[in-house]
Amino acid sequence: MNTTPPASDDLGGGMELRRFIAPEIVLGRGALDRAGRHVAAYQGRKILLVTDENVRRAGWCGRVEESLRQAGCAYAIFDRLTPNPKDHEIMAGVDFYLRQGCDVLLAVGGGSVIDCAKCIGAAAANQRHILRFLDSTEGLLPAPPLICVPTTAGSGADVSQFAVVLDTRRRVKVALIGRSFVPEVTLVDPETIATLPPEYTAACGMDALIHALEAYLSNASSPITDLYALEAARLIRPHLIQAVNDSTNMQSHQAMMLGSLLAGMAFSNAGLGLIHAMGHAAGGLLDATHGAVLAAVFPSAARYQFANAAPRCRAFLRAMHPDFKIDCEDEALQALLDDFQELRNELGLPRTLAELGVRHSDLSALARNALQDVCLATAPVAPTLEDLEELFKEAYGRQ
Ligand SMILES: [Fe+2]
Repeated sequence: MNTTPPASDDLGGGMELRRFIAPEIVLGRGALDRAGRHVAAYQGRKILLVTDENVRRAGWCGRVEESLRQAGCAYAIFDRLTPNPKDHEIMAGVDFYLRQGCDVLLAVGGGSVIDCAKCIGAAAANQRHILRFLDSTEGLLPAPPLICVPTTAGSGADVSQFAVVLDTRRRVKVALIGRSFVPEVTLVDPETIATLPPEYTAACGMDALIHALEAYLSNASSPITDLYALEAARLIRPHLIQAVNDSTNMQSHQAMMLGSLLAGMAFSNAGLGLIHAMGHAAGGLLDATHGAVLAAVFPSAARYQFANAAPRCRAFLRAMHPDFKIDCEDEALQALLDDFQELRNELGLPRTLAELGVRHSDLSALARNALQDVCLATAPVAPTLEDLEELFKEAYGRQ
């Protein structure tokens, strides 16, 4: 038996000072039917239920409403939002929240719905336009309690201290970070993702796997976030294709829901990196599905930022594929890139930004916007503007 203790490097972040924040988590079939009793525990006057048309059509919102009625909770519904929540949609939600006299938030939906609810809470509590949170999140009043029922497996928004909003004037997605964006409770019910169209399951799953990867290679990773990131990789990689191809496969849905949750806790606390910084810039311009944009920028961003991280690339690969053999550590990054590209092709996700509709004349603006993205703070390598211009050119036309 090998009893050699791990080298300090294996402890991720070398035991530098780190904190770990997570909400209360209720996980399993039937979790969404408990929404009423969890919301009632906050003894609010009125709940703002944030959702969207698709979630209402799928029936999940109706079940949550039934649990609210059973718990005797008064509520109003806000569903006037689109994917990638826009600044003006959020401010319309703030207005509705205040006019209705709400004091608790309940989000039922995917990452866009949850981010919208987070932003409504923060902006309403502080009587401030959501884009003014970019200046500073210091000294803010705490947001009202937020309970989440996620209906996609990918965003991690239900556990993270991030919220992403689309600045419509600048056409860029902006990531906000702060303790007040962490929900109080998340009710994770694997049944909810069975009704997702396969292309969404694919894009959300790719997003979740990239959360785990960027958290694991972040310069703010810790022994705790490493546990979550590697377990997320172990769950998501083998189950994603099955979840996309077979909507009746509950085992895969459960694995994806759990994997996404763990990846969310990893990146919430370790941060993300260049893949998300480039993805936010391009996603804001295109208003496209987040996971699809990440797939297109992945190879260029990953090759750049993980160039000196062979041991961690190898460990992540081994988490995804326990039997993976590699002769030389120098090959780990290329093997990781090959594996992601194979997955991307199987999932039918885009290979280039050109495929998604980006124009060559957009690339300089994308580079400037990515340079401002908060996710670069935890990227293992900090790019210059010139580096980003090159990286966007590569992502634009790579085949
Ligand atoms: Fe993401």
